[in-house]
This record gives sequence, C-alpha cells and structure tokens, in this order.
Amino acid sequence: MRVLIQLAAVLAIAPALTAQAPLGHTMMPVPASVALTPGRLRLDSSITVALVNYRDPRLERAITRAVTRLELRLGVPLPRQYGSDRNASLVIDVAGQGFATPDLAEDESYELNVTANQATLVAATVVGAVRGLETLLQLQDADSHGWYLQGAEIRDTPRFRWRGLLLDVSRHFEDTDVIKHLLDGMAMVKLNVFHWHLSDDQGFRVESRIYPRLQQFGSDSMYYTQDQLREIVTYAADRGIRVVPEFDVPGHSSAWFVGYPHLAAGAGPFAIARTWGTFEPTMDPTRESTYQFLDAFIGEISTLFPDQYWHVGGDEVDPKQWRESATIQAYMRDHGIANEVALHTAFNRRLVAIVQQHGRIPVGWDEIFQPDLPTSAVIQSWRSSTALAASAKAGFRGILSAPYYIDHMKPASDFYLPDPIPANTDLTPEQQALVLGGEACMWGEYVVTETLASRIWPRLATIAERFWSPGSVVDIADMYRRLDVTSRRLSEVGLRHEEHVVRAVRHLGGDSTALFESLLDYIRPQDFGGSGRTQPVPHTRLIDAAVADPRATWNMSDRARRAAAGDAAAAASLRNDFTRMAGLQARLAAIQNELPAAGDAAAVAGALRQLGQIGGQALDFIARKQPPSAAWQASTDSTLAEVRRRSGRDGYGGLRPVPFDAVGVLVDAAKGLPSPRH
Ligand code: ACM
Repeated sequence: MRVLIQLAAVLAIAPALTAQAPLGHTMMPVPASVALTPGRLRLDSSITVALVNYRDPRLERAITRAVTRLELRLGVPLPRQYGSDRNASLVIDVAGQGFATPDLAEDESYELNVTANQATLVAATVVGAVRGLETLLQLQDADSHGWYLQGAEIRDTPRFRWRGLLLDVSRHFEDTDVIKHLLDGMAMVKLNVFHWHLSDDQGFRVESRIYPRLQQFGSDSMYYTQDQLREIVTYAADRGIRVVPEFDVPGHSSAWFVGYPHLAAGAGPFAIARTWGTFEPTMDPTRESTYQFLDAFIGEISTLFPDQYWHVGGDEVDPKQWRESATIQAYMRDHGIANEVALHTAFNRRLVAIVQQHGRIPVGWDEIFQPDLPTSAVIQSWRSSTALAASAKAGFRGILSAPYYIDHMKPASDFYLPDPIPANTDLTPEQQALVLGGEACMWGEYVVTETLASRIWPRLATIAERFWSPGSVVDIADMYRRLDVTSRRLSEVGLRHEEHVVRAVRHLGGDSTALFESLLDYIRPQDFGGSGRTQPVPHTRLIDAAVADPRATWNMSDRARRAAAGDAAAAASLRNDFTRMAGLQARLAAIQNELPAAGDAAAVAGALRQLGQIGGQALDFIARKQPPSAAWQASTDSTLAEVRRRSGRDGYGGLRPVPFDAVGVLVDAAKGLPSPRH
C-alpha cells in the first residue's frame, strides 16, 4: 500500500501547490480527452480478458505484458488465455493489424471506457491497442478493498506522429539489455521512435559483414551483431516503436577510417577518438569509391532496419581536411563548387540518392538543409526552433530536437514547455503539417550504463507528454505531481533511475549514506555533468551520483511563493529544507579526511549552507512581517550574486545548488515587506 499512501499524500497537498485544479488523475502523457467516472472496476484473480475482434501474436504478447504488470501489483496469478466473451472484465476490440511493422502513418488512436463492471479498449490497429493498454495500467489504483481501475471515458490520439528518443551509443556503448529496458520505458510514455546514433568519432557500433574492418578496428569490440540488431528492431516493433538508425557522415566519422582509411579526405593513420568535440577526419566527397562504399554499406545494413527512414547525420562537418587537400580543391574548381558548404551539399545529393535507391527516406541534421537539397529529405533541428521553422517554410518536413537535449542536466520544467509548434508560431497550417514532431536527445559523452537511466528518467516522460498531449497541457506543478507517480511506475518495470542515488551513495558514502542522500536532494550536475572527460574514465564520482532534477526540489519555488504569501505549511516545509541544507557542510567536513566524495562536496555544501541560512532568515522576516535591514539586504545580494556567478560558470566542482531560485523568491518577498508604521 506504499504506493497508495504516497499517492494520497501527494493528492492531499497538490491543491495547495497548483494554481489551477489538478487533473485528478496520474496519467502521463495526458490523453486527448478524459472524463473520470465514479465506478471502480475491482481487480482480483477472477478477472478475465477477451479479444472480441482481430487477434494476432503481437497483440497477444502486448496483452500478456500488461497482464503481467497487473499481476505484479495484485500478487495473484492472472489468466493468460484470452477468449472472445464480450462479458469479460477486460474486452479488447481491435479492428485490424495496422502496419505490419511500425510506420509513421500508423493510427495510434484508441478509446478506453472503464466502468464498475468492465473495461473496454477499442482501437483500429494493434499499436493503438498497445497505447491504450499503457493508459489502462495508469488507471490502476488501490483503496482499502484492494486494487481497482478508476472509471473513465478516454478518447486518445497523439498530437505528433514522430515522438522520439535519440540514444548515442558511440561515445559510450550500451548493451542490448539496457536498450530493451529503455524501449519498455519509452512504450510506457507512448514514445514511438528509437533513433539509434550508431557511429561517431568514438566508436562504430554495428557488425558489417561486407566491411568487417568497421567493427574490427572501430569499436573496441563493443558493437551489435546483426542478430542483436534484428532482436532490438523486433522488440521495439512489438511495442509500436520504430527504429531509425543513424550513421553520421561525412563528419563525426573517425571510427570508420581506422579500418578503411581510404574513405577519409586527409592522410592517416586514424584512431578512435577518446575525447569529445568535433574532429578533423572527414569523408572524401570527391572520390567515387566513397559513394560505392556507402552504397554497399547502406544496402547491407538497411536490410536489418525495416523502417522507412535512414538518418545520414551531416552535422558539424569540419572543412579543414577538405581545404588542405590539393586534389579536393582541384575537384571543386573543376566542378564549379564554390566552397566547402557547397561541397557538403554535393555530397548530400549523392548520399540522398543512394539512400533513396535503397528504398529509404533520408533524415539529417540542420546542416544538410541547403538550397539544392531535395525536399524529400527530413530535417532534424538541433540548433533552434527557428531553424526548424525555416526548413518548414522551404517545404521540408522536420523534427525538433533543439530544446530537448536531456544530456543537459536541467530540470524537467525546463524541457516541458518548449513546443514543436509553439502557440505563437508564424507557420501556415500547411507548413505546420510538415512538423512531424520531436525527439529528445541523449548524447553519450558523460553517461555510462550505470548512470544512463538516471539521466533519462523520469524527465523523458515529460517530453513524451509534450509530443503526445494537447498543447494546452502546460501546468508545471501538476506535471510534477503526476511525474512522481510515473517515475515509480517506470521503476516497477525495471528502470533503475530511482535506485541510482541509493546505489551510488553505497559506493561513495562509506558509513554516511544518509548524509550523501541528503546532499543529493539539493544539488545537480553543471551543464552536461558527468565525470568522464574522456571515454575510458569511470563514472563513479559525486557528480555522477547527482541527478538533474532532484525530487526534493520539485516545486520548491512554488512553495516559496506560497510561503511568501503567508502559507504556514509551505513555510514550515521550506524551513525544514533550509535547516538540512545549512547543516550539510559541517557534517561533511567531519568526514573529509576519510572520504574523497566529502571533499568533492565541500564547495557546493558551502553554497547550500549560505542559501539555507539566507532562506531561513528570509522566512523569519516574512513571519515577523519585518523588512530586513539595508545591511542584511546588501550582504545577501552580494552572497547570492556570488552563488549565481559560480553556479553559472564551472559550478562548485561541477555541481550546482538547486534551491537558488526558491531562496531568491523569499529574499525578494522579505525585501518587499512594508516598513512598520510608528
Ligand atoms: C548535434 O548535436 N551535433 C546534432
């Protein structure tokens, strides 16, 4: 019942924290249309499941996954035979298969009605049913009589057709079990594209049989066999998720050249890159053999990826090797190619034709958007929403990623509101229709298997909501209320983000795990935080234990606003936080000589002490309705300016204190108190 009790506690405080009434449910993403109804469908070992229309093995597997998750909650065995009785407790009515493999044009809509007697899920396609089953599981709750499904009438369909996550496995490799867990989580929040960034300067990650030196020399033996690639594609397809492979060319391609140096514009020898950034090695776009190689490679590997789309990369091409090569410069002169940007476009035109010959539609980053590119290509904007709008105005279909770089250690609230089509868009309806959706990007420089889940979840769920739910769903406090439950649901299926801090402090914290857990409630990594400045560095420092959006700080600024307005409960809970923050530095100092992590924490704990003390004093002024002295204001302003300055640069040893804004709200409120009348 722990889930229930925590949920009840959250619901009890939620009205106090939100400007508008909370939604009253915990679904994420919010369906297009929801009405909660009073009935509760009781769940116990007597429930029956029926498929009353179309059925196939993929649908039956999806139902079995859902039944297994129900079973975990209920603690009793449930049936695995699905009859066709319309009076069953759970009736699934699917009209047909839809696309045999997931497709951009798939109908993902569904209707779900739950009454005290029955739950009915109706969908046109198997994938629609897969989406609806996730919603059904999110209606599960418990009361003193046990588990039930909340009564509801839901009609749901996604706002955007392309709702993705990019995972970069080049900078750091992830094995197939990790990928499968990720796909499970993606399906739970109704994401439908797994964009697999499979090659970059730091590693080439697939097995090629016709060019085996790619993986033999470019991967440190960390690559996916062709069987493993097929296995992941099938696993994703079962969950209605398309797999779009990316092989980034002509830049970001050092790892290709270790085994095949003749592909490069510059002279070798070449090595796998071990640091981060952009690198000089670049493909030679003037040699016919480059295109013959790419043609054969794409011909081979596209047979493993049934998706219609193929990502060619195309970002951050360093023109240095092109400029320095006499033969390339001569080629440009002979062919009337004015500069290196035009040379990149010439390369892209050849590449686009090759990709299309293999029956695929090319996707590329902003940089491929040049005047001569055929509009059949799709542009993925990593630079800005403005870049996406510009390509839509030129007739290109596009995907927005710029605001959704989740390797950036920012809170969920920062990612939640940016919209692929913002309310004030100047795109015409026809141009808006070219915006297919968005993708969150998890680049791999500062992340390894041990930290991956903690860097993706639960924040990704909020971006998934942006891509699926109506654009009017924008209440941040209610998002965090639902995220709390969503995060636990994700843990239940095996994602390890919630365990992350617990596990990490077992290594870091010696006998002081509770102290480090407290510290980690109030800090986050700076920027793309992680300790790996180079590829082989283990990620086992305090910065790797820290998460981007610690749960203890969710809605802290909201509580500060309420406390400033006189809410005693909000003030009391903040005072508790400030006391904890202020006490950390002394407790860490006491063990500084025993634990390296205590030393790593010293600077940020000093900032937390300052913020905790200032926050506590501001609460005192507010409680006494007494404005602070000019001297207090001046010293506070200078302390806060210093904390802001350091947080904005390298942080405190790469870490930054999170409650800065909440303290600022209280300080401003204290300063604004009217002077007492005499
Ligand atoms: C990118 O971030 N260079 C796509």
